[in-house]
Amino acid sequence: MIRGFLFDLDGVIVDTAVFHFQAWRRCAQKLGGDFTEAQNEELKGVSRADSLKKVVEWTKASVNTEEFEALLVEKNEWYLELVQEVSEADGLPGAVTFLEQAHAQGIKIALGSASKNAPMILNKMGLTHLFDAIIDGNNVINGKPHPEVFLKGAAAIGLDPEECLVFEDSIAGVQAAKTGGMSCVGIGTPETLEGADLHFTALGETTPKELVACFNM
Ligand code: BG6
Ligand code: MG
Repeated sequence: MIRGFLFDLDGVIVDTAVFHFQAWRRCAQKLGGDFTEAQNEELKGVSRADSLKKVVEWTKASVNTEEFEALLVEKNEWYLELVQEVSEADGLPGAVTFLEQAHAQGIKIALGSASKNAPMILNKMGLTHLFDAIIDGNNVINGKPHPEVFLKGAAAIGLDPEECLVFEDSIAGVQAAKTGGMSCVGIGTPETLEGADLHFTALGETTPKELVACFNM
């Protein structure tokens, strides 16, 4: 029985995945390289430090520990500049309505985001009150594809993993959900999000009622 929803944030609820991409691209260019859209799929859902390791590897730059730490700070500053104006209007199609409907139906809701900026973004969007628990990059040791963030989310809303449905736009996040024993809705295509149980391009294409009925058949 599905009784709880665990939401990723960037690229599922709000259109911030594009800002992470822009900031990482600026970082890669600073290192004298670049990366492709396909490589960017590998960065989605991945923690700040793990993402920088990949960018350094792709650009073949040589970066010492001090420079690595400085780049982490700089990337976040670029990202923060880009998200300054984020508001409820930046919700992805149907996402805010979907959250409100789930909340009104009494479904337990937790955030399971890799981002240390997640609580700030939720506040900017005025959505914090819809969440029963918030687990983000500040609360985990192991980043996605490790299931820690979703296992902690499920525990925080008092449910077993099998009672939770995860919403994810990243392959790392889909893998985290499935490894954790949860069902998973992919926000994206079956090609990029292999392993998700169902796929939609946005939450507005379905409703909490429809999904709960589908998974609880
Ligand atoms: C994830 C994003 O939600 O959070 C990644 O998909 C991002 O692109 C990661 O790198 C970490 O975010 P932050 O805000 O802690 O740098
Ligand atoms: Mg995401």
